[in-house]
Amino acid sequence: VSNLITIDGPSGSGKGTVCHILAKKLKWHLLDSGALYRILAFAALKKQLPLNDSAALASLALTLDVSFVSNGSGVDTLLSGENIGDKLRTEVVGQAASEVASIEQVRAALLARQQAFLQAPGLIADGRDMGTVVFPDASVKIFLDASAEERAKRRFNQLQDKGFNVSIAQILSEIKERDYRDRNRAVAPLRPADDAFVIDSTSLTIDEVVEQILNLTAL
Ligand code: CDP
Repeated sequence: VSNLITIDGPSGSGKGTVCHILAKKLKWHLLDSGALYRILAFAALKKQLPLNDSAALASLALTLDVSFVSNGSGVDTLLSGENIGDKLRTEVVGQAASEVASIEQVRAALLARQQAFLQAPGLIADGRDMGTVVFPDASVKIFLDASAEERAKRRFNQLQDKGFNVSIAQILSEIKERDYRDRNRAVAPLRPADDAFVIDSTSLTIDEVVEQILNLTAL
C-alpha cells in the first residue's frame, strides 16, 4: 500500500508532531491510534470499570461513540458528543491507556476501527503497532525513537507550557514505566517492524525528522 506511512515509537519521540505536519503537508488523513486507547481508558475510568476486566473493556471498545471533528486550528475529540480532547493528555489517562492497551481483546476490538482510517488520498498512521500489526502492508514504515532523558525533557516542556506542575524526574520515571510495559507486553509489543526505517530523533529537530521521512518516501 503506497499511500500509507506508518510511524511507530515510544512516548515523547516526536511522533505526534511529526505526523500532524506530514498529514498537513501531504493533505492525507491522520490516525492518532494512541488517542483511541486514551479515549477508551477515559471512558473506562469514568464508568469505574476495573482496568483488568478484559471482556467489559473489549465490549466498551466496540461500542465507543467516538468522532474526530476538525475545528479551525485542530481536531476536537468527541465521546458521545462531548468534547473530551483536553482530558486525554493527563498522566493518569496515559498510564490507564497503556494498561488497557496490553489486553489482547481490546486491541482486537479496535483493529477494524483503525483500519477504516485508510482512505484516499492517503493516511499517516501514528502509534505503537501501526507497521507491525494494523497496517503490515504499508510501503513506508518509520520507527521514531529518542533517548528516555530527551523524551522526558520534551514532555516536561509540553506540560509546563500547558501549566501543569510536574517534575522532570517524575516524568522520566513514568516514561520508563510506560516504555517497559509497552515493550514487554505479550500482545503487539512496541518494536520496529522488520522493514521499518529507524530514526533516532534525540539530536534532531522536528523539521529534520520530517525532511528525512519525506526523503525516504520520495514524496
Ligand atoms: O503521546 P504518547 O506517546 O505518550 O501516548 P499515546 O500515543 O497517546 O498512547 C498512549 C498509550 O496507548 C501508549 O502508552 C500505549 O500503551 C498505547 N498505544 C498502543 O498500545 N498502541 C497504539 N497503536 C497506540 C497507543
